[in-house]
Amino acid sequence: MIAITGLSKARNGAAVLADVTLRAGEGEVTAIVGPSGGGKSTLLRCLNGLETFDSGEVEIAAHRMRPGPHPPRLLEAVRRDVGMVFQQFNLFPHLTVLENVALGPRVVARVPADEARRRALAQLDRVGLAAFAAARPATLSGGQQQRVAIARALALAPRVILFDEPTSALDPAMAAEVMETIVALAGGGQTMVVVTHDHAFARRAATRVVELVAGRITRVGPPAAVLASPT
Ligand SMILES: Nc1ncnc2c1ncn2[C@@H]1O[C@H](COP(=O)(O)OP(=O)(O)O)[C@@H](O)[C@H]1O
Ligand SMILES: [Mg+2]
Repeated sequence: MIAITGLSKARNGAAVLADVTLRAGEGEVTAIVGPSGGGKSTLLRCLNGLETFDSGEVEIAAHRMRPGPHPPRLLEAVRRDVGMVFQQFNLFPHLTVLENVALGPRVVARVPADEARRRALAQLDRVGLAAFAAARPATLSGGQQQRVAIARALALAPRVILFDEPTSALDPAMAAEVMETIVALAGGGQTMVVVTHDHAFARRAATRVVELVAGRITRVGPPAAVLASPT
C-alpha cells in the first residue's frame, strides 16, 4: 500500500529527508512523531506529490513516484487516491460546507454535480455534520471545520489519507472531537498516515509509530514501545 525506499531530499544544500525507508500495509495507521523541523510535513507532502524529492522511490496506492518532477497524469492519479487533511483546514470560505466537500468528486473524479452532492452529503453524515451542509465554513467551530475537511478527503474514497497535525490548531475539546472522528476511521480500516504531537492519540489510533528527527527515522515500532521512552 505504501512503500518508501531510500527517500532523500535537500533544500538549499541541507538534507530535509535522509534515506527514509518505510512500509505500511492496507488498513495500517502510521503515526509520525518528532521535533519541529524534522521533516514530517515534507515527508507527507512527498507522499501525495505536493513535493518532489532527489533520490529514492515512493509507492503509494499502486502509484510509483520517482525523483524529480512528476508527470501531470501521475499527479492527478495520486491526488485522487491519496487524500490530505491539513492543520489549517483550508476550506473555501465562499463555498458552502456541502460545496466544499462536493468539489473534489466534481473536479478531480469528474462526477456529475448531482452525484457529487449526494456523495458529499453521505460523507458529511459520516462525520456528523449533515445538518451544516448549507452553512459557510466560517460559521462552524474549528473542530467542525476540521471534520468538514475530513469529509472532503473521504469524498474521493481515497485509498490512503494523510493528516498533518490535524488537531494542533484546535483547543482540547475540539481536538478531542476531531480525534474521535479519526479514531473511528482507523477502526473502519482506512489506511492513513498521521503526523501528530499528541502521543495519547498516537497510542490509541496508530498501529505503528515512526519518529523522524532531522530527516531520519530514529525509531519505529508499536506505539507502546516507541512512545515509552522518547529519545
Ligand atoms: N517551503 C519551505 N522552504 C524552505 N524550507 C522549508 C520549507 N518548508 C520546510 N522547510 C524546512 O525543511 C525542514 C523540514 O521542515 P518540515 O517538513 O516542515 O518539518 P516538520 O513538519 O517536522 O516540522 C525544516 O528545516 C524547515 O525549515
Ligand atoms: Mg510540519
